[in-house]
Amino acid sequence: MALSTSSAITLNINGEKHTLPVDHRTTLLDALREHLDLTGTKKGCDHGQCGACTVLLDGRRAVACLQLAVAAEGRVITTIEGVAEGERLHPVQQAFLDLDGYQCGYCTPGQICSAIAVIEEHAAGWPSAVTADVRPEAGVPPLTADEIRERMSGNLCRCGAYVSIVQAIARAAEAEATPSPPAPRRESDLDDAAGTDDAEITV
Ligand code: FES
Ligand code: FES
Repeated sequence: MALSTSSAITLNINGEKHTLPVDHRTTLLDALREHLDLTGTKKGCDHGQCGACTVLLDGRRAVACLQLAVAAEGRVITTIEGVAEGERLHPVQQAFLDLDGYQCGYCTPGQICSAIAVIEEHAAGWPSAVTADVRPEAGVPPLTADEIRERMSGNLCRCGAYVSIVQAIARAAEAEATPSPPAPRRESDLDDAAGTDDAEITV
């Protein structure tokens, strides 16, 4: 009896379930781009060397060109199309835009997905190869430019936009570490915030 070389799988991508038939040899990268038209994830080397295809699998970064689509079934997959909240860009996306963290933009989706995970890994206290003191009692190391460069070393940029990329990641990390002020809830709160004294209270 001939063994089947394809299966129907269901992938959980950006909060949506997609069922598709795939050859067992299909990579997650090709499933995203060729089967599901999610072309934000880019193919660079197709050999795990450049980071252009970086996505998040269960919140951790992974190169989609080295992952079989069938092995991604049951995982929570986030691609660049899923990192924004509606119309509101993710802080890392916003920082890349504000600080020109790209030139041609081809590596950018992978850089952004990787940077999102880097900020979370750092905040969780994961050391890197350049962390001077890795003892748990030393706490979270400062997210210096060297730390960012080391942690992002798997993501290449052929345009050489590295200076702006590092600055953008530093800014996004800072923004995420700074709690935003609570939104005003009532008209009176808005008036207080604006410094007016004779506000009418609306409940
Ligand atoms: S395309 Fe996957 S690492 Fe280069
Ligand atoms: S912006 Fe062109 S490859 Fe990075």
